Amino acid sequence: MASLSLVAFFLAVSSLCAFHEVAHAEYTGVTRHYKFNIVLKNVTRLCHTKSMVTVNGEFPGPRIVARDGDRVVVKVVNNVPNQNVTVHWYAREWFNGDTEAIISESLHNGGGPNVSEAFTINGLPGPLYNCSRGAGTFKLRVKPGKTYLLRLINAAMNDDFFFSVANHTLTTVEADASYVQPFESEVLHIGAGQTTNVLLRTKPKAPNAQFYILARPYFTGAGTFDNTTVAGILEYHHNHNHNHNPLLKKSKHHTIFEPTLPLTNASDYVASFASRFRSLANTEYPACVPQTIDKKFFYTVGLGTTPCPKNQTCLGGSIDRKFAASVNNISFVTPSVAILQAHYNKLYDAGVFTGDFPDFPLHPFDYTGNPPNNTLVDSGAWLMHCHFEAHASWGLMMVWIVLDGELPDQKVPPPPPDYPMC
Ligand SMILES: *[C@@H]1O[C@H](CO)[C@@H](O)[C@H](O)[C@H]1NC(C)=O
Ligand SMILES: *[C@@H]1O[C@H](CO)[C@@H](O)[C@H](O)[C@H]1NC(C)=O
Ligand SMILES: *[C@@H]1O[C@H](CO)[C@@H](O)[C@H](O)[C@H]1NC(C)=O
Ligand SMILES: *[C@@H]1O[C@H](CO)[C@@H](O)[C@H](O)[C@H]1NC(C)=O
Ligand SMILES: *[C@@H]1O[C@H](CO)[C@@H](O)[C@H](O)[C@H]1NC(C)=O
Ligand SMILES: *[C@@H]1O[C@H](CO)[C@@H](O)[C@H](O)[C@H]1NC(C)=O
Ligand SMILES: *[C@@H]1O[C@H](CO)[C@@H](O)[C@H](O)[C@H]1NC(C)=O
Ligand SMILES: *[C@@H]1O[C@H](CO)[C@@H](O)[C@H](O)[C@H]1NC(C)=O
Ligand SMILES: *[C@@H]1O[C@H](CO)[C@@H](O)[C@H](O)[C@H]1NC(C)=O
Ligand SMILES: *[C@@H]1O[C@H](CO)[C@@H](O)[C@H](O)[C@H]1NC(C)=O
Repeated sequence: MASLSLVAFFLAVSSLCAFHEVAHAEYTGVTRHYKFNIVLKNVTRLCHTKSMVTVNGEFPGPRIVARDGDRVVVKVVNNVPNQNVTVHWYAREWFNGDTEAIISESLHNGGGPNVSEAFTINGLPGPLYNCSRGAGTFKLRVKPGKTYLLRLINAAMNDDFFFSVANHTLTTVEADASYVQPFESEVLHIGAGQTTNVLLRTKPKAPNAQFYILARPYFTGAGTFDNTTVAGILEYHHNHNHNHNPLLKKSKHHTIFEPTLPLTNASDYVASFASRFRSLANTEYPACVPQTIDKKFFYTVGLGTTPCPKNQTCLGGSIDRKFAASVNNISFVTPSVAILQAHYNKLYDAGVFTGDFPDFPLHPFDYTGNPPNNTLVDSGAWLMHCHFEAHASWGLMMVWIVLDGELPDQKVPPPPPDYPMC
């Protein structure tokens, strides 16, 4: 029985903040403390109840609120018996028995992981899925004549999305923590692990209608994928409506409008959307990027296949291949000793990592043409990886060992006293 997918599409809303003031004010940061209790929690979606690993019992997880320059201290306590967890800062991931079975099954057979059964907005699948009307649907209630800031996080593990709100134009103002020159569009494209802030201007007068908020994957690969659509609902508060009788409210039948999303394979839409991003920097507020380069790196990333182990049937495109991925032809293999620990203890010969990761592709080839067909599998504390979780599990990651600098704040702090050593 395939389980409820734990991919989530988070959406949070707050009213427009005056971010120009934030950007220009002399702000000296504060320290904000959070506690994450990792606990199991039963969650019901799509007519099924299952036990999930959660932070503080919340699905999706809690928000961390901070401003530029703040220091955020998070104390993580793992209360889940017999399960080691890592906390992933860009898209949290949720592992429980079934999810782990799906991942280990796909690593074993070398195919892609089973596709999800549903996507969610703030943990809710919405009315286009079974058992997800009413409380299973995310509702965004707005007032007329206002501007709302939507913070969108694509927390899905293996999917890019198109996102649109019926009858409302969205203005993109920020992407992956950089403000951009604002631009309008009906439909957004957002990649796995990406974040964006968009402005939604509500209509001057509350319409007697509701509006679907839809998201559906963008996919051009050869395999199968979840082509379902997650829906939330945008609805207006009726300020002038002084009738608070809930029965009357319930009996009101609104028209509901639906946005038109591009075809799931609409690469032309994605390319034209991506071409609209422009830096906000100008001569008054320049983006001061370093101009002097000490060392250059050139990485090619590749997706391919390796031979299936003997006596096994694989699903990596054919029965004798497993999917594999690499950076400069080296495929990442998860070591049994933590890489940061190996670096800190100078365990250079422990088979955890080597110091000769190629800065350039060893065999130059036509990088825009047909890539070569060989992948070297080798053993490998800054993880660089593909935001598609499946590609990372096939080896599309690497770790930067950044050596200590001369200043005190350029050194790796020692591990905590209770850190388990190998
Ligand atoms: C989840 O539900 C199961 C079955 O009802 C129950 O045994 C278990 O204790 C519940 N777990 C939590 C964390 O509430
Ligand atoms: C969790 O990590 C510890 C220390 O590395 C290890 O001994 C233990 O086997 C791990 N447990 C599981 C369930 O993987
Ligand atoms: C993955 O999907 C296949 C085909 O639907 C199914 O047979 C298999 O049990 C699923 N695997 C897991 C771990 O749920
Ligand atoms: C929804 O429920 C119906 C009836 O139980 C079932 O036939 C169908 O497969 C379900 N659809 C999904 C997407 O789970
Ligand atoms: C929403 O858009 C549809 C299609 O463009 C249009 O027919 C309808 O009048 C619009 N409704 C509202 C309330 O803006
Ligand atoms: C989704 O995929 C299924 C199976 O491949 C196909 O039958 C269906 O038409 C697709 N739906 C959409 C909306 O593309
Ligand atoms: C996209 O999908 C449509 C419908 O499935 C198909 O007709 C079209 O050829 C595809 N376009 C590309 C560029 O693959
Ligand atoms: C393959 O399976 C056969 C028969 O079960 C066994 O004798 C042989 O050792 C296996 N080979 C490998 C490489 O596992
Ligand atoms: C790599 O393999 C693919 C599929 O077998 C083939 O189409 C392609 O020509 C190969 N590329 C090279 C450079 O050999
Ligand atoms: C990748 O590594 C394999 C195995 O060492 C080697 O045969 C192949 O030539 C390498 N390919 C490239 C493009 O570096």
